Amino acid sequence: MKILMVCLGNICRSPLAHGIMEHEVKKAGLDWDVDSAGTGNWHVGEPPDRRSIAVAKNYGIDISSQCCRVFNVKDFDEYDRIYVMDRSNLADVLRLARNDGDRQKVQLLLKNDIVPDPYYDNALFDPVFVMIEKACKRIIADFSGDPSRSGTR
Ligand code: 4NP
Repeated sequence: MKILMVCLGNICRSPLAHGIMEHEVKKAGLDWDVDSAGTGNWHVGEPPDRRSIAVAKNYGIDISSQCCRVFNVKDFDEYDRIYVMDRSNLADVLRLARNDGDRQKVQLLLKNDIVPDPYYDNALFDPVFVMIEKACKRIIADFSGDPSRSGTR
């Protein structure tokens, strides 16, 4: 399984989702590939925001070596599932989709809710970490409860 986490800047939320999912996948003994990207290009080549690095470190996860990149239409070919943080990310990614196959790969990470953008609010980084962690655990639990996954480790 190849999973891509997407937000606007690829420096706050999706790097957290990338690091948390990698951490949970490892704990679950799965060999999924996880990456992240942004729909905007302002921070390409940069590491995650220092506040995301700090909150992840607080929870024992090192995301400092990640590098910001832009979401590309080829990501639809590369990844099985593309998780976006909010409805604006959803619209931006769906705008690039070429067909129903591409569209079906894209969903909100929180199913029916959004992960708020913490860029202008320091107090949001901790709750954002917690909500992303919960979503990643739910995705793995859903997958692990799916009998069709047998043999796909
Ligand atoms: P992110 O947060 O989408 O969670 O990475 C943002 C980071 C940077 C900007 C906006 C949102 N920006 O405008 O530079």
